Amino acid sequence: MFSEYQHLIDLSDYPVSWWKKVIELGEKIKENPKDFAHECDGKIMATLFYEPSTRTQMSFQTAMIRLGGQIIGFDNPANSSVSKGETIKDTTKIVSSYADILVIRHPVAGAAKAAALTADCSVINAGDGGHLHPTQTLTDLLTLKIEKKKLSGLTIGMCGDLINGRTVHSLCKALSMFENDKFIFISTPELRMPAYIKDIIKANGSTFEEVDTLEEAIGNLDVLYMTRIQQERFASAEEYLAQKNTYVLDHRKMLLAKKDMIVLHPLPRVDEITVDVDDDSRAMYFTQAKYGVFARMALILTMLSEKKSTELLKGKIYNAVKCDNPRCITNHEHYLPKSFRSSGDETLLECEFCDERKLI
Ligand code: NCD
Repeated sequence: MFSEYQHLIDLSDYPVSWWKKVIELGEKIKENPKDFAHECDGKIMATLFYEPSTRTQMSFQTAMIRLGGQIIGFDNPANSSVSKGETIKDTTKIVSSYADILVIRHPVAGAAKAAALTADCSVINAGDGGHLHPTQTLTDLLTLKIEKKKLSGLTIGMCGDLINGRTVHSLCKALSMFENDKFIFISTPELRMPAYIKDIIKANGSTFEEVDTLEEAIGNLDVLYMTRIQQERFASAEEYLAQKNTYVLDHRKMLLAKKDMIVLHPLPRVDEITVDVDDDSRAMYFTQAKYGVFARMALILTMLSEKKSTELLKGKIYNAVKCDNPRCITNHEHYLPKSFRSSGDETLLECEFCDERKLI
């Protein structure tokens, strides 16, 4: 199923050369932001945030304003017709007729793709549940390019809530496309990286290992990507409390790290990095958040200057088959086609909205 507009739902829908172009533009903008101050004069961006956000929403808005454009949108669906039961389909249809580009964040996986199916303008996924967060990944890649001067040959530790953290899912998919990047996943057995992401890493020829403690990994890392335990994605308070406070990066653990390791975090932090780390020159998370504006300026410019159609659904529609993931948009908005890809294994189908696999 094709859309005549260009969308960013998952970075993997684009070749690496496209990401590199966006990152290079982000570097240029960082050097001379004023040169781009009128590039989006007369353009409107809509931000539809169905889930809380500080950095992603404000950095998108700042990016558009710095490009000369204007913004509309909501950050609390309770104040919009969503509270009256309006579907993503209808909200998107209308808002995309007001704006030139639409940025959506939603608590359910696959929501951005669902929006793109009906939008009459470009849609950018600003986070869909625990699934993906491609614009955080562009921010992370820009930060690595500027601060580590490369995107390949890195040993990257990812620590914390790897099962629910959409930022690390998108980042793994992206970094595994570069040569010789190695991953060390630091988490409890309950919060391990999903199997489908590990399979993508292997298929892309990268390697990973899984460990339980920060101490055993930190000395080998070029980059440590800390994440918050995603309280809102746990089924019960008990399950969250059992994981809370498991990983805390502090000044003492930083003594075990390389002198040029950098610490990234998509933020917000809760208690997984103590404030004494903030003064360490290797703490790069606030700089990373600042670079998010340049990455998003570059993305908006790219999306508005290119005119490409997007193939949103490539698989087969099985209307009698239901995705097993309760947090998939197809189980919330029932008009959506039940579209699945075959996984290579005849007994497994992959949902085209949330990527979860289903045995048939
Ligand atoms: C992240 C998100 O929303 O996924 N934050 C962000 O976009 N900067 C990480 C998080 O909420 O833990």
